Amino acid sequence: MSSKVRTINSAAQMEKLGAEIGSTLKAGDLIVLRGELGAGKTTFTRGLGRALGIEGVTSPTFVISKIYPGRIPLVHVDAYRLIGNELALFDDLDLESRIPQSITVIEWGGDFVKRLVDSYISIDIEFGVNEDERTVRINGLEA
Ligand SMILES: Nc1ncnc2c1ncn2[C@@H]1O[C@H](COP(=O)(O)OP(=O)(O)OP(=O)(O)O)[C@@H](O)[C@H]1O
Ligand SMILES: [Mg+2]
Repeated sequence: MSSKVRTINSAAQMEKLGAEIGSTLKAGDLIVLRGELGAGKTTFTRGLGRALGIEGVTSPTFVISKIYPGRIPLVHVDAYRLIGNELALFDDLDLESRIPQSITVIEWGGDFVKRLVDSYISIDIEFGVNEDERTVRINGLEA
């Protein structure tokens, strides 16, 4: 398992990290973003989208999942409202059919992802010592 830790000092830097990682991804890759409300998961995903030629990624909270056409399509899932719900609701998103040709980013989806892929990238975002600081841990994981 590969692991990296980065200290991030602003939302702009978080977008830059997202773009940096996004530029290394290929179709079929899946990222699980972990971190409390407001940690910066969507901010990271906005930068990742930019690396794929996608502008304006916003929180999909009210629709659970959004698909953005790009160099490689980006599937952005916010599973927050599915926590504690039946897994069948997650299956309704039909991610299996989209993952192979897309880059998939899932917020709050740690409990569901093992059903979907053999390996994925897990990114943990923790609040730091001031309002704008975050510690980001990037791990390549076998499911
Ligand atoms: N270093 C930082 N990295 C990311 N966001 C930051 C940072 N510093 C401040 N922010 C601010 O924190 C907020 C992060 O919000 P964002 O929607 O990205 O969080 P989230 O983890 O997706 O939350 P949710 O769980 O509600 O979806 C934004 O308002 C952003 O501007
Ligand atoms: Mg979010």
